[in-house]
Amino acid sequence: MRTKLIVGNWKMNGSRAANAALLEGIVAGLDDARAEAAVCVPAPYLQQCQDALAGTPVAWGAQDVSMHACGAYTGEICASMLAEFDCRYVIVGHSERRAYHREDSDLVARKAQAVLAEGMTPIVCVGETLAQREAGETMQVVGGQLGAVLELLAPEQVARIVVAYEPVWAIGTGRNATPDVAQDVHAGLRAQLAARNADAAPGVRILYGGSMKPENARELLARPDIDGGLIGGAALKAQDFLAIIHAA
Ligand code: PGA
Repeated sequence: MRTKLIVGNWKMNGSRAANAALLEGIVAGLDDARAEAAVCVPAPYLQQCQDALAGTPVAWGAQDVSMHACGAYTGEICASMLAEFDCRYVIVGHSERRAYHREDSDLVARKAQAVLAEGMTPIVCVGETLAQREAGETMQVVGGQLGAVLELLAPEQVARIVVAYEPVWAIGTGRNATPDVAQDVHAGLRAQLAARNADAAPGVRILYGGSMKPENARELLARPDIDGGLIGGAALKAQDFLAIIHAA
């Protein structure tokens, strides 16, 4: 049985004051939530998260990482640094990074490997654009993105990743994928995981991301292969984020 996982992706949002209020609100409102919760925050706020969340049920992590180990890579942050802040999760391959920073699937795969090497869990994002969906290329696109990662990892490492299906046309648009559309893709991704490691695939969590909010979370999360959510906008309000955690 997969424990549902709800991850807030703060993107490039936050301030020390706003974060303090948000984190306090999340922890205070968890009650007896049975889903796992985490926030992936801008790197300068990792210390603040560690201070505020250590000893609570909420995990934390980063939104990107360098594929390199420490060295002469100005502006980059390596996985061992993130591990020093006790990050549990690191998002890799978010579509905003693929689009604005030209990250390709090979680079994303190397980042996932760097995260695993430091004992953290990569959240590998995949997703098609609207044009690709309309051209009937969805499975080909997301399959290629996940395939690059699976190819680089050892089969036993498959058990240690989280996958996030985030259709680009649903991110920040208010237009979520329907539960049926998302379930179809998730089932396809799980089959692909199974082809690499049949024993691990049933345990890998596949999150949905793209305009998930309190109003649609329950229905999405009820589908058999939707194991949680990667939440952007709705993760910036404690009440909305908590509502999704409780829906899970
Ligand atoms: P959204 O973002 O929930 O604001 O659509 C999700 C994401 O990009 O991870």
